[in-house]
Amino acid sequence: MNMKVLLTNGSPHKEGCTYTALSEVAASLNKQGIDTDILWIGNKALSGCIACKKCVEKNQCVFDDKVNEFLNMAEDYDGFVFGTPVHWGGASGSITSFMDRVFYADLCGGGNRFLLKPAAVVTSARRAGTTATWDQLNKYFGLMQMPIIASRYWNMVHGATPEQVKQDLEGLQVMRVLGNNMAYFLRCKEAAEKMGIEIPEQEPMVFTNFIR
Ligand SMILES: Cc1cc2nc3c(=O)[nH]c(=O)nc-3n(C[C@H](O)[C@H](O)[C@H](O)COP(=O)(O)O)c2cc1C
Repeated sequence: MNMKVLLTNGSPHKEGCTYTALSEVAASLNKQGIDTDILWIGNKALSGCIACKKCVEKNQCVFDDKVNEFLNMAEDYDGFVFGTPVHWGGASGSITSFMDRVFYADLCGGGNRFLLKPAAVVTSARRAGTTATWDQLNKYFGLMQMPIIASRYWNMVHGATPEQVKQDLEGLQVMRVLGNNMAYFLRCKEAAEKMGIEIPEQEPMVFTNFIR
């Protein structure tokens, strides 16, 4: 069975600039024999995390929306890309709520859906805020033991419309290199697994609040 990457579009526009960038990543993954799906988080209100901790028992979020749809799908995917437009110099409010709840639910519920699966962030802006947004979203992967895949520049495209993004030739190349690098990483993981190299045993979590 082919390996699969799930690309999440965190823009309120189903087929806008972020989608255009993600599609370029997907096309280069497909060229390397990796299957892809693009999930749009939609343009309806997505609640932030209400810290109810119900996910500890449920391994899902208490709000049954796009977050649970994603969590139900995630186990079947080998890698993840999250795309966001830059809103006020940071990630969109919706993708922030979405990723807060996705990763908190998995972490607290002990889901292990993401353990050592590669991930990347793609940002889309008219002009500025791309690197701050990229830094912001990479933090989820740093905590979730998800190797961050790099490209030949920080993963951004520029433009206010898909047509403008298509003129950002360097940005599109960065997307293609990202897809190729993720495909290469996935192939390495597959080869390692065939050779009997296993994912490290997980230690029970040590959880301190600095005071003791
Ligand atoms: C609420 C809001 C805030 C924005 N803030 C920024 C910004 O800080 N920097 C920027 O370059 N573009 C900003 N933009 C423009 C979008 O980032 C840009 O048009 C993006 O490419 C749209 O991607 P999309 O079509 O996938 O939604 C903003 C747009 C909106 C709606």
